[in-house]
Amino acid sequence: MKVLLTRRIPSAVLSRLEAVHEVERYDGPSPIPEDELRRRLADKHALMCLLTERVSADALAAAPNLKIVANIAVGYDNIDVAAARERGIVVTNTPDVLTEATAEFTWTLILAAARRLGEGERLLRRGEWRGWTLDFLLGTELRGKQLGLIGRGRIGRSVAAKAPAFGMKVAFAKHDLSLDELLVSSDVISIHVPGGDGTRHMIDRRRLARMKRSAILVNTSRGSVVDEEALAWALKERLIAAAALDVYEREPEVHQDLLSMENVILAPHLGSATRETRTAMADLAVENVLAVLDGRPPRTPV
Ligand code: DGY
Repeated sequence: MKVLLTRRIPSAVLSRLEAVHEVERYDGPSPIPEDELRRRLADKHALMCLLTERVSADALAAAPNLKIVANIAVGYDNIDVAAARERGIVVTNTPDVLTEATAEFTWTLILAAARRLGEGERLLRRGEWRGWTLDFLLGTELRGKQLGLIGRGRIGRSVAAKAPAFGMKVAFAKHDLSLDELLVSSDVISIHVPGGDGTRHMIDRRRLARMKRSAILVNTSRGSVVDEEALAWALKERLIAAAALDVYEREPEVHQDLLSMENVILAPHLGSATRETRTAMADLAVENVLAVLDGRPPRTPV
């Protein structure tokens, strides 16, 4: 059967798919333009895509033979899942395999923000380091502080499991505390909810204003969850101390004001970016495609 792949995947993984099916790979500028996606989907039975590609109801309507959309990501807010369901098209994602990589990266951001690593590195590279002094670039210690987690899924729980190593107490929103109580009482707030309409701008001006002035906000989930304009305002007004972001509202664009702020760590959506994890994600997506095209249930339907 015919499979459309919108990006390169590791060759060992690709060969498993090519051994059984005819694979067409899109090699143009990413993300694939919507009209190009529609054109290429016309005769395909499976689509393997990335979170950067919008798979709309229109695109699905242009694919009469399509049986599966296999997203190489755990998040799937790029796909119109309801439209796929109506057409009997299976949608799959890649949970579990990226949990640890993303949780590790969340801690990378927490630690970097707490210890002002980005600021220090930029200063040093500019040649402005004048040597060790007692009060130079002082950060904040994590020990004894509260880590407030929004989202109690796999990644949120894995981030929580690592907190005792840094002496932090953990509170989950809606489980241990209400969201507002968590915002008021946490020293570090880390977001682990899915993107989409249900969580859009969950962190807005009002909620940022409730946080401690010393709070650090970390987001490795989806950019849409945080109102970037409001975050820039809160940081400028010193309503919170710092932010560490891996995801943005309009990737790869980043709010202009955030780019010039010293107290913001900005990463280019690297949460799951390890060789091991990205290979496992592609592998799982291929497994799902192979199963559905073979008439079997996929391992990880959404
Ligand atoms: C996902 O999988 O949804 C992440 O954002 C990228 O790994």
